[in-house]
Amino acid sequence: MATILIYGATGYTGRIACEYAAQNGVKFILAGRTKSKVEDLAASLNVPSEVFDVSDHRKVDLALKSVRVLLNCAGPFQHTAQPLIEACIRNGTHYLDTAAELDSYKLAEKLDEDAKAAGVILLPGCGGSAAMLGCLSAYALERISNPLRIDLALHVVGSMSRGSVISAAENLTVECLQRLDGELVAQDPTNTQEFDFDNGQGKVTCSSITFPDLITVWKSTKIGNIGTFFRMTGDAFPTGGLAQLPDGPTPEQRASTPYQAAVTVTSKDGSVVRAVLHTLNGYTFTPWASVEAAKKVAAGVTQAGFQTTAGLFGCDFVRTIPGSVIKDL
Ligand SMILES: NC(=O)c1ccc[n+]([C@@H]2O[C@H](COP(=O)([O-])OP(=O)(O)OC[C@H]3O[C@@H](n4cnc5c(N)ncnc54)[C@H](OP(=O)(O)O)[C@@H]3O)[C@@H](O)[C@H]2O)c1
Repeated sequence: MATILIYGATGYTGRIACEYAAQNGVKFILAGRTKSKVEDLAASLNVPSEVFDVSDHRKVDLALKSVRVLLNCAGPFQHTAQPLIEACIRNGTHYLDTAAELDSYKLAEKLDEDAKAAGVILLPGCGGSAAMLGCLSAYALERISNPLRIDLALHVVGSMSRGSVISAAENLTVECLQRLDGELVAQDPTNTQEFDFDNGQGKVTCSSITFPDLITVWKSTKIGNIGTFFRMTGDAFPTGGLAQLPDGPTPEQRASTPYQAAVTVTSKDGSVVRAVLHTLNGYTFTPWASVEAAKKVAAGVTQAGFQTTAGLFGCDFVRTIPGSVIKDL
C-alpha cells in the first residue's frame, strides 16, 4: 500500500517531487484538482492517482484515510494549507508541505495542540529553504556556547518558478519582520547585512526579508533574536506579466545555478560562529528533500504537533541531499 500522497502533483514543484519519488522506488499516490493533468502524469509515471478539490471534504477524507503522509505541493498555500491540515487532523494523517510563506507556519503554530491531540505531525516547508536554513542553524549552534542571536541568509541563484512568484505576491504577511527577544517585530526593509557565501565573491550585501525561519528556528532553538536575509543573482525575481513566465527553471538551468546559505551565530560574550551550506538549486532541492522528509515521516517519526525539519531529523538531514555540503567559515 502507498503510504504517501503527493497533492498539487501536476505543478512545477509537485511534478519534480513525483518524478523523484518514482525514480527512487517510493510507493505513492499522486493527486491534484485538474483531472486531465493528474491522469496524464499518473499514466506517464505509472502510479495510482486521485482527483479532488481541497473544498470537497468527503473526497479529501476518502483520499487521506488510506495514507500515512500527505505532501502538499499546491501553492499558494493560503488556499490549500488550512483545508488540508484540518483534513489531516480529522483523518490522522501527517501533513507536510513545500510552503515558503510565513502564513503556513503561523497556521501550523495555531493548530499545534489540535495536531498533538490527533497524533499528527505538521511539518510545513519540510524540504524547502526552511530545511536548508534550519539544518545550517542547528549545525552552527552545536559549535558555540550561550548563543544570543542568529542571522541567516539565502543566496537565490537563477530564476524563480511562476508558482513561487504568485505565492510571494499573494502572501498575507506583507511586513518585513525579524525576531527580537522572542517576539516577531517589524524590521526596516532597507536594513542589510553582509554575508560570505564562500562562492568566491567574498562578503556581499544581503537584504532583509521575512523568511519562515523566523518561526522555525525560534521553535527548534528558542533563540529569541533572529534575522533573515537574501541575495538574488541573475533573473531570480522576474518582472513583467506572469502569463509570459515559464513554469520554472529548466533542468539544465537548475544544474548550473546551485544555491548557498550562510549563518552567523553571535554568543552572549560576543564570540561569533559562521558556517555556509553549498547545495542544489532550490527547485531541485525542495522536491527531492520534501520526498525524503515524507519517507522519514512515513517510516515512523513519533513527535506529533507542529515540527521543524531540523528539529525532527537533526542538522545532518540537509547533508543527505546530494550536492549539499556544510563548511565552517
Ligand atoms: N520552500 C521553498 O523553498 C519552495 C521551493 C519551491 C516551491 N515552493 C512553493 O511551492 C508552491 C508551488 O510552486 P510551483 O512552482 O510548483 O507552482 P505551480 O507550478 O503554479 O503549481 C501549483 C500547483 O498547485 C495547484 N493548486 C494551486 N492552487 C490550488 C488550489 N486552490 N487547490 C488545489 N490545487 C491548487 C495547481 O493545480 P493546477 O495545475 O490544477 O492549477 C498546481 O498543481 C509555491 O507556493 C512555491 O512558493 C517553495
